[in-house]
Amino acid sequence: MNFRIFIPRDAGAIAVGADEAALALAQAAANRGVAVEFVRTGSRGLHWLEPMVEVATSRGRVAFGPLTPADATSVLDAMVTDGPHPLRLGLADEIPWLKRQTRLTFARCGVIDPRSVEDYRSHGGYEGLEQALRLTTDEILAEVTTSGLRGRGGAGFPTGIKWKTVAQTAADRKYIVCNADEGDSGTFADRMIMEGDPFVVIEGMTIAGITVGATRGYIYIRSEYPHAVIAMNAAIAAAKRAGYLGERIGGSAHHFDLEVRVGAGAYVCGEETALLESLEGRRGVVRAKPPLPAHKGLFGKPTVINNVLSFAAIPFILAGGAKAYAGYGSGRSRGTMPIQLAGNVRYGGLFEAPFGITLGELVDDIGGGTRSGRPVRAVQVGGPLGAYFPRALFDTPFDYEAFAARDGLIGHGGIVVFDDSVDMSKQARFAMEFCAVESCGKCTPCRIGSTRGVETIDRIRAGDRVAENIGVVEDLCNTMKFGSLCALGGFTPYPVLSALKHFREDFGPASTRLEAAE
Ligand SMILES: Cc1cc2nc3c(=O)[nH]c(=O)nc-3n(C[C@H](O)[C@H](O)[C@H](O)COP(=O)(O)O)c2cc1C
Ligand code: SF4
Repeated sequence: MNFRIFIPRDAGAIAVGADEAALALAQAAANRGVAVEFVRTGSRGLHWLEPMVEVATSRGRVAFGPLTPADATSVLDAMVTDGPHPLRLGLADEIPWLKRQTRLTFARCGVIDPRSVEDYRSHGGYEGLEQALRLTTDEILAEVTTSGLRGRGGAGFPTGIKWKTVAQTAADRKYIVCNADEGDSGTFADRMIMEGDPFVVIEGMTIAGITVGATRGYIYIRSEYPHAVIAMNAAIAAAKRAGYLGERIGGSAHHFDLEVRVGAGAYVCGEETALLESLEGRRGVVRAKPPLPAHKGLFGKPTVINNVLSFAAIPFILAGGAKAYAGYGSGRSRGTMPIQLAGNVRYGGLFEAPFGITLGELVDDIGGGTRSGRPVRAVQVGGPLGAYFPRALFDTPFDYEAFAARDGLIGHGGIVVFDDSVDMSKQARFAMEFCAVESCGKCTPCRIGSTRGVETIDRIRAGDRVAENIGVVEDLCNTMKFGSLCALGGFTPYPVLSALKHFREDFGPASTRLEAAE
């Protein structure tokens, strides 16, 4: 009997020993004379169980984890005998943390071989493209619009409207750009899907190309993601070989080609216009809008620029129907969001759920509270530009409008958890410092304001005219919020002001704070 064992090749799993676990299992199989076929997959996203390995059985895949090389032989024996083992987790699909999710975008991540078009197709891959090829441009646009999909990169702009603008703009050449710069703290969904199911991104971009009349696309991947670069390049080559990229896609009259470009290592290069500058070979500096990239984007041509997760949601929408996607969610936030639980959290990882789930449910129930075991004090949602929420706001539903109503943002869906040892004035200082370091320098409120912000918070922390300097920081935030050209300067006030609003007791000399805590 030939055993099929699945081991993630995801960068996160490799970081905690997936390659060593794979080698040890292979060695154990050779020692035992057991014939094994190893499949390197992406990660299922249950990070505390990585490296999580699975074996195919007639009942489904049985999972074990976290696997260390020392456990490899006994785990292999348990796989062969279908017997008990302390690391045995049962059927992977039945693990409650996974079963509670609604995986539309991440349905195949951790399941399929990310280098095999055949495996992708056998799990419903390319059904969305096949449907798109049967529809007219207007019909595809109607599907994307009806699905209610909003950009998953942070701003939440309706994807259907963006695509329609590019489709209706006449030009001899148009482009599709995938924003895989993923710079937000605590986020990893783009990386995971590129490493675990790269074809879904390629398929989404191809559908975008067919819809708006673009024949060329670029995936701009941050330089810190070498595994994702390899995975995407391998998938592009496989898609080309299978006739899903290049001339006459899927036997149609359309052609579409893709290329990976490695990013320049700056947070601001995730901002769409700075990204386009960088793609064109220049320094990543933000462009003034208008013109919008949809009218004048890459090389001055109409360009669809979307986040990885926005493109990855498209195949389901086309294959399953816009209404099936829009059937999930709450209010104007339709569909599902791949939420990323990170920081000081017990059960961190990728949790895809319909919008509307509350922050408290995500942090306390699904995340299991802090890893340190101390009480949760604050969470930052939406990356370094997102607000800090105290427990008092844990009833906030995960939804664009609900977060905005409380001066927060969901951004790219990252949640970073902090316990009660956090010093929130230090976090506020960090927000200003981050902005100062990452500012592209184009406008004064961001370039100068962030540095003045660091200095002023330092004074507050030193106990120098605390009330007066808090007033200066608030004033500075106001100037940055309304006077900055892009959201880096414009949103840095959110973490700063939320820390001041909800954790005012942390602002003052360190000795006072310690006394207050005692
Ligand atoms: C400073 C800054 C950094 C950003 N970084 C990213 C990023 O890493 N990935 C991303 O998709 N969008 C990022 N964005 C948002 C993009 O500008 C843009 O809104 C997005 O790529 C559009 O795609 P979407 O509509 O699919 O979200 C950033 C914006 C700002 C202001
Ligand atoms: S807000 Fe900051 S990052 Fe954005 S354009 Fe101005 S200087 Fe550049």
